[in-house]
Amino acid sequence: MRIDIISCVPSLMDSFFAHSILQRAQTKGVVKVEMHDLKDYASNQYRQVDDYPFGGGAGMVLMIEPIAKCIRKLQSEQTYDEVIYLTPDGVTHNQKMANELSLKKNLILLCGHYKGIDERAREMFITREISIGDYVLSGGELAAAILADSIIRLLPNVLSDETSALTDSFQDSLLAPPVYTRPAEFEGNKVPEILLGGNHKLVEQWRDDQAYLRTKTRRPDLLENLE
Ligand code: ADE
Repeated sequence: MRIDIISCVPSLMDSFFAHSILQRAQTKGVVKVEMHDLKDYASNQYRQVDDYPFGGGAGMVLMIEPIAKCIRKLQSEQTYDEVIYLTPDGVTHNQKMANELSLKKNLILLCGHYKGIDERAREMFITREISIGDYVLSGGELAAAILADSIIRLLPNVLSDETSALTDSFQDSLLAPPVYTRPAEFEGNKVPEILLGGNHKLVEQWRDDQAYLRTKTRRPDLLENLE
């Protein structure tokens, strides 16, 4: 898979993609993440990518020209399954969407900044608009990083234990059960006995029960999606 991220401050995401699972996924060649600085596509010497909104009002708006230039350059080099704009007024992201997007080959993620992007850029180039939640961030960079992370960890051979993404919260509309590691007792707090007994069938049953219980108490709305 290839993910191209367009932003006017791409360095915001450098560290995020340079560590841990996301770095390993790139080293293994499972995913190629390319950053593109919108300012490289500006038409004037000041590398200007934003301007005042027509009609007045507070905040700046990202201009259509650098966005069009950057997307068109990428699209002339390879075809993309989706051109995604990260925006609080998009469809709220969830595990189902991450699963669906993890099956795509090439994605462009466009990050907004300031007051957003010129509406014509949305109409002309964007195939999908995604929000990561009902709150407003200073820009789409964190949202793009979160979206990319949720997709990349699902790609084959990214997680060392292939099954571990399958047991994530939400993967089967249930929250994940509690997990424990050594020591078996800490300041009088003991790990549930069943996890220490070595009976895999009982452990599995316990985890299923705990996942259901946790979902019922914390997110009963998720149980409506259970088949
Ligand atoms: N940009 C700013 N806020 C955002 C959000 N909640 N989701 C996606 N992109 C955003």
